[in-house]
Amino acid sequence: MSWIHYVFRKKTNRQKYKPVILITGCSSGIGYALAELLHDQMEYRVAITAREKSLKTLYDRFEESERFIIRPLDVTSEISRQECIDSICEKWGSVNVLVNNAGISYRSVVEHMDEESELHQMETNYLGPINLIRLVLPSMRRIGRGKIINVSSVSGMLAMPTMSSYSASKFALEGASEALWYEMKPLGINVSIIQTGFIRSKSFENVYYSKKAEVCSISKDQAYCDYYANMTPFVAKMMSLSLTSPEKLAKLILNVVRTEKPRLRIPGTLDAYFFYYLRRLIPRRFFHEILFWCLPNAKHWAKDYSNLRK
Ligand SMILES: NC(=O)c1ccc[n+]([C@@H]2O[C@H](COP(=O)([O-])OP(=O)(O)OC[C@H]3O[C@@H](n4cnc5c(N)ncnc54)[C@H](OP(=O)(O)O)[C@@H]3O)[C@@H](O)[C@H]2O)c1
Repeated sequence: MSWIHYVFRKKTNRQKYKPVILITGCSSGIGYALAELLHDQMEYRVAITAREKSLKTLYDRFEESERFIIRPLDVTSEISRQECIDSICEKWGSVNVLVNNAGISYRSVVEHMDEESELHQMETNYLGPINLIRLVLPSMRRIGRGKIINVSSVSGMLAMPTMSSYSASKFALEGASEALWYEMKPLGINVSIIQTGFIRSKSFENVYYSKKAEVCSISKDQAYCDYYANMTPFVAKMMSLSLTSPEKLAKLILNVVRTEKPRLRIPGTLDAYFFYYLRRLIPRRFFHEILFWCLPNAKHWAKDYSNLRK
């Protein structure tokens, strides 16, 4: 083959290459905004996914085409994960970019969590994403390129009361992503974590409560009732005041998809930058004390309960 043929073939191959992007949790929030954004990006083939119960939202809004498909995917189900990847690979051969976006959040103090709720949290935010990564890595490795984009949270760098399990799941996701970054670097596969702070969305309405947390959050006479009474409206307020919309986050993720070598940790919102630097500037022994006093009414938490004990 002459060099002219070689260059020509390389160029046309490059022009034909349309990376396949798989996004989890597209029925609302960031996933939905990303689906909308990618719907019009002709240079990609896109598989948007949702659990069966939410698929209608996607079929009502989007039309499938040669380069845009809708598939059922429950990240907590091994069968669902395998069927989804098989279906995409059957159509397009492989997944080149995996966006692990689906996530849930439990609002519960440690004492009120139960094993079932802990497992639900970890299966959705950690085990599901990691198992999906395992399914897409072999073909990425063979091709010698690919991107894993994990949507994490500020809760993956610092924990807040009533959000222990959510934080644990995001800390776990960040830890595994960091290890994966080292493992994939020699193989040409990029790993990025999007560290998202408060987003102006309604996702706080989708918060899960463990059974004990649910009872306590509506009562006024238990040790932890102040924690729920203050943290729930605080989080809702911070989200409504946030300058970042799901659409803005979707643009950031698209930017990461387009960047040849994106960084491992990418702050997604202003508060993510703020907490990143705060952690570095304030000595560790003062950091948690200062944050505690910034929590709404924290100095009065459990006061009635403690007075009863005296
Ligand atoms: N919103 C924020 O302020 C914020 C802050 C930090 C980090 N984040 C992270 O950003 C990501 C997206 O959150 P969001 O704000 O867009 O929340 P959201 O609007 O509640 O969206 C979450 C999505 O995950 C899906 N999902 C839940 N369980 C699933 C499962 N088992 N299998 C597949 N999909 C499932 C939901 O679909 P269904 O319709 O099936 O329930 C929904 O589409 C999450 O990882 C979250 O932790 C959000």
